[in-house]
Amino acid sequence: MVFGEGNPETDLMLIGEAPGEQEDLQGRTFVGKAGQLLTKFLNLFGVAREEVYITNIVKCRPPGNRNPEIDEIRTCYPYLEEQIKLIKPKVILCLGAFSARTILNLPEKTPISGIRGTVQNVNNIKVIPTYHPAYLLRNRKGEPEFQKDLELALRLAGFIG
Ligand code: URA
Repeated sequence: MVFGEGNPETDLMLIGEAPGEQEDLQGRTFVGKAGQLLTKFLNLFGVAREEVYITNIVKCRPPGNRNPEIDEIRTCYPYLEEQIKLIKPKVILCLGAFSARTILNLPEKTPISGIRGTVQNVNNIKVIPTYHPAYLLRNRKGEPEFQKDLELALRLAGFIG
């Protein structure tokens, strides 16, 4: 199980999809290639990953990195709800369509391109959907938009002015 890590007092929570191979091996979130890219972007704004809280919708690695299934999401959701309740972030940055659809309760096929960069309100938490860092590894063109969304999240959470 890969639970999540970071500063429990933080105002910014990052929520990805599910652990990949490296995460499964190390028991830590976002430590593979996508995680290294995420860390690089945080560092670009002078923020260390230890200053935010990073977790996933699904806490165990889906075999072969397939998409998580609905029963897996349902099983894991109470843990995520409890994490959100304990950490009480001001802002949640949803990494990828899967995370955004789950947190915002959107239909299954909702494309991330149509909702990224918007600020939604869920139980008085500002929720911002953006691309998944693994998507950026394949589509470098998305990086400026990702950077913009991360900047907005960091600003709304008070990390940058
Ligand atoms: N992708 C995710 O969605 N989460 C991780 O922790 C790693 C890769």
